[in-house]
Amino acid sequence: MTSTHTINRKPILVTGGSGFIGSNFILHILSKYPDYEIVNLDKLTYAAAQDFNEQAGQFPQYTFLQGSIENQELVNFIFAEYNIRGVIHFAAESHVDNSISNPGVFVQTNIVGTSTLLNAAVTHWMDGPGRVKLGYEECRFHHISTDEVYGALGETGKFSEESKYAPNSPYSASKASSDLLVRSFNRTYGLNVVITNCSNNYGPRQHDEKLIPTIIRSALQLKPIPIYGNGCNVRDWLHVQDHAEAIDLVYHRGTNGETYNVGSDNEWNNLNLALEICTILDELATEQLREAGLTNYSELIQFVNDRPGHDWRYAIDTTKINKELSWKAGTPFRTGLRQTIEWYREMYQPKQIVRV
Ligand SMILES: NC(=O)c1ccc[n+]([C@@H]2O[C@H](COP(=O)([O-])OP(=O)(O)OC[C@H]3O[C@@H](n4cnc5c(N)ncnc54)[C@H](O)[C@@H]3O)[C@@H](O)[C@H]2O)c1
Repeated sequence: MTSTHTINRKPILVTGGSGFIGSNFILHILSKYPDYEIVNLDKLTYAAAQDFNEQAGQFPQYTFLQGSIENQELVNFIFAEYNIRGVIHFAAESHVDNSISNPGVFVQTNIVGTSTLLNAAVTHWMDGPGRVKLGYEECRFHHISTDEVYGALGETGKFSEESKYAPNSPYSASKASSDLLVRSFNRTYGLNVVITNCSNNYGPRQHDEKLIPTIIRSALQLKPIPIYGNGCNVRDWLHVQDHAEAIDLVYHRGTNGETYNVGSDNEWNNLNLALEICTILDELATEQLREAGLTNYSELIQFVNDRPGHDWRYAIDTTKINKELSWKAGTPFRTGLRQTIEWYREMYQPKQIVRV
């Protein structure tokens, strides 16, 4: 464990802060709030961005702790040692395909891990049900969740905060369970909580296994670009920086006990998304395309067997966050996608050997 703990700052525990969304959020918060101390508790599973600590470590108010949210003793110790005043909880097993092959780890991390954090928050911030400790009135637990808890939509309609929970995969069922635990700690103990349920994120530092990095990597490596089923499943793509700003807003100004859906009004089916990425790559990596004897990267697209229980469509009604907190996603999709592709191109490029 390394610690750069300092007093007189507002210590916030961010869990899973070395993952895709958590890492982008931490950079956002460190740059914007120099008086916050950010303690990142991350187990550093395969999904973590292993080099992120180097980047975040440049901020003196950042501390990294490697460990698991399932370890109650460790979590209690962190709350006491750093006098934690807020939690923003990203840590999770997050890949639907993995939840189909190994659901047990999703139950452990996403459900047991969340209850461990909630227990610690109640212990450290409250004297009993409905009784917040003196000086801890501002402490808040922000749970990051997914629109997948609502199940799947048909051709029309959108998920609102009132939509019924109907998770279809072990991943979404574990996230739905964790949402309900968070809600119950609010209703039973009076713990100050907010929940955000967001749509699919894209942007830098997303793990290779997810759809957009897979499309970009396969194309750049001139390998088949795998698309599930007939490519017609629809997702609402949200730029991770827009998401970070929404979390910032809900954490600071959201109403205690409430849920906010976060989306981008940006629906794409998987095939059209792959075609869009290929079109951008056609412009950016023309030379490689020519050398490979291809006319377009889209020639690499290949349909593969569908994922079992693959949800047909997700779409988010953002009226609540828009009206109550004046939030709206601001990144134009083509701009965000192009920047994302450039980031991955840089990452996948063979590194130059510098001779001295
Ligand atoms: N990526 C998306 O599109 C998306 C969409 C909706 C909701 N979400 C939710 O947002 C959150 C973050 O997603 P992400 O895409 O950044 O995930 P990710 O898989 O990229 O990162 C998860 C992070 O959690 C850490 N972690 C896993 N188990 C842990 C444990 N037991 N203790 C401590 N750390 C642990 C991992 O090391 C990793 O750094 C998750 O809760 C996810 O359910 C993600």
